Amino acid sequence: MGETIVRNKQVILASYSNEGPVTQDHLNVIETQLDIKGCKHGEVTVKNMWISVDPYLRARMKNLGTGLFLQSFKLGQPIVSRSVSKVVASADGQFKEGDIVYGYCDVAEYAVLSGSGLTKLNADVAPLPHYLGLLGSSGLTAYIGLMKIGEPKPGEQVFVSTAAGAVGLVVGQLAKINGCRVVGATSSDEKVKVLKEEFGFDDAFNYKSETDWDAALSKYFPTGIDIYFENVGGRMLEAVLNHINMNARIPVCGMISQYNEDWKQTYGVRNLLNLVVRCAKMQGFIVGHHLDHMDQFREEMISYTKQGKLKYRVDIKQGIDSFLEAFNSMFSGKNIGKTVVQL
Ligand SMILES: NC(=O)c1ccc[n+]([C@@H]2O[C@H](COP(=O)([O-])OP(=O)(O)OC[C@H]3O[C@@H](n4cnc5c(N)ncnc54)[C@H](OP(=O)(O)O)[C@@H]3O)[C@@H](O)[C@H]2O)c1
Repeated sequence: MGETIVRNKQVILASYSNEGPVTQDHLNVIETQLDIKGCKHGEVTVKNMWISVDPYLRARMKNLGTGLFLQSFKLGQPIVSRSVSKVVASADGQFKEGDIVYGYCDVAEYAVLSGSGLTKLNADVAPLPHYLGLLGSSGLTAYIGLMKIGEPKPGEQVFVSTAAGAVGLVVGQLAKINGCRVVGATSSDEKVKVLKEEFGFDDAFNYKSETDWDAALSKYFPTGIDIYFENVGGRMLEAVLNHINMNARIPVCGMISQYNEDWKQTYGVRNLLNLVVRCAKMQGFIVGHHLDHMDQFREEMISYTKQGKLKYRVDIKQGIDSFLEAFNSMFSGKNIGKTVVQL
């Protein structure tokens, strides 16, 4: 290989997966070559350092057709995710070799990108993977859902599902900072312990061992739930709706328990009428529509971190070949905190 030609492993979508777990039949790692000096005017070549692994990518691995705001990934092409990367060649005057940038990128070792979609990052402010988690989309998702839709007030009762994940950890701690009592649900005793001992949740339960969720919610919320931060959907949402208080708020962030199903097979929640009776608000949101809050959000998060009120965890897998394992770790609940791949 010439000096500027490099090996470039990429994760491509080999076939759609409309239901069930994603496997090597769907995501393949292929080896290609790239001339890193081959970027054209306005483009930069980047070497990826950290790749974000997110549940919403599951939808893009389905053959979605039309109707959803998300688009399916193209067959035979690299899938795309957010990343933190280093510029290795630039034909865009705004960037130079060595700059650290954030943007949407092929899930690959290297990629050629338009400079217009990239933001420079300051590596001195925070550890770089935090720009994908605590100070990035996951943290902003927690902030928008809880603060703007949930509107927490001191003394309120907050319930968070996927509490030990990238979004959930921030939701729980922000709820505490705002004077609420917070209880999380998660899938193992180890994660319950982490939530209570490391992240200051008032309580937490293992929804896989406490399988009567109605009884569990009566036990953990004897006075009812004011805010339910919804991350899982299905049967858990149904259980929660029987425990909401008057004027409860339900920011609908995601429904991961349903992502491996074809939408026609998803769980039909039977007690939505409780929203009427309890005058409750249930509102979906997409973090990408709230990027105007990013600066204010980051300032607050950095301040809470400095005051010791906010902690975070990053769950790191090594190398591009580990992408599928990292992705599936979120569906088996093996991750704690933000799942990233380090290259
Ligand atoms: N609206 C937006 O803009 C936006 C942005 C980012 C994320 N989200 C949503 O936020 C939620 C959390 O995302 P994240 O990035 O923070 O991921 P995460 O929580 O770090 O990882 C996913 C977690 O989902 C749980 N899970 C997996 N399969 C499940 C099932 N069948 N039933 C119940 N729980 C299951 C697991 O936690 P346990 O061990 O606790 O089961 C796993 O750790 C997802 O629903 C995601 O789609 C929405």
